[in-house]
Amino acid sequence: MGISRTYVMIKPDGVKRKLVGKIINRFEEAGINIITMKMLDVSRKLAEQHYAEHEGKPFYDDLLNFITSGSSVALILEGNNVISEVRKMIGATNPAEAKSGTIRGDLREDPLKSVTENMIHASDSDQSAKREIRLFFGKSFLL
Ligand code: RTP
Ligand code: MG
Repeated sequence: MGISRTYVMIKPDGVKRKLVGKIINRFEEAGINIITMKMLDVSRKLAEQHYAEHEGKPFYDDLLNFITSGSSVALILEGNNVISEVRKMIGATNPAEAKSGTIRGDLREDPLKSVTENMIHASDSDQSAKREIRLFFGKSFLL
């Protein structure tokens, strides 16, 4: 409830497919504020820290290879209930299952590639938002 912040990352497929502007435009149109943003090449170490919860899962190696395969764009967004709002806006993890009106549903590649290449990450809870904001931008960006 109330004003909060979330961590969003446009993944290498989104950057390569030139979807950065379109994706950010959706957040601005929704009245969400951009607090800061940067383009970065996620290192293996940073990728392992970011996706630590998935270590050992079958898709983990693919995920690390993909997220380190090119530049990403990292943002901190702020707004009312922004964590759940942005999760709704991005849609289901698998673009094949993401509904129209969502980022993963509307901007998915045709023909579809893998679940891994789903264009965007967003924090899934208050706890992960805080952890990810600290990891990518530092604790001075926490509310
Ligand atoms: P994200 O963390 O990137 O915002 O995505 P999410 O919460 O919707 O999905 P999560 O379960 O956290 O999975 C993290 C990322 O791993 C890749 N993935 N691949 N092949 C697969 O079955 C599979 N499952 C997940 C996706 O890139 C997903 O976003
Ligand atoms: Mg996740």
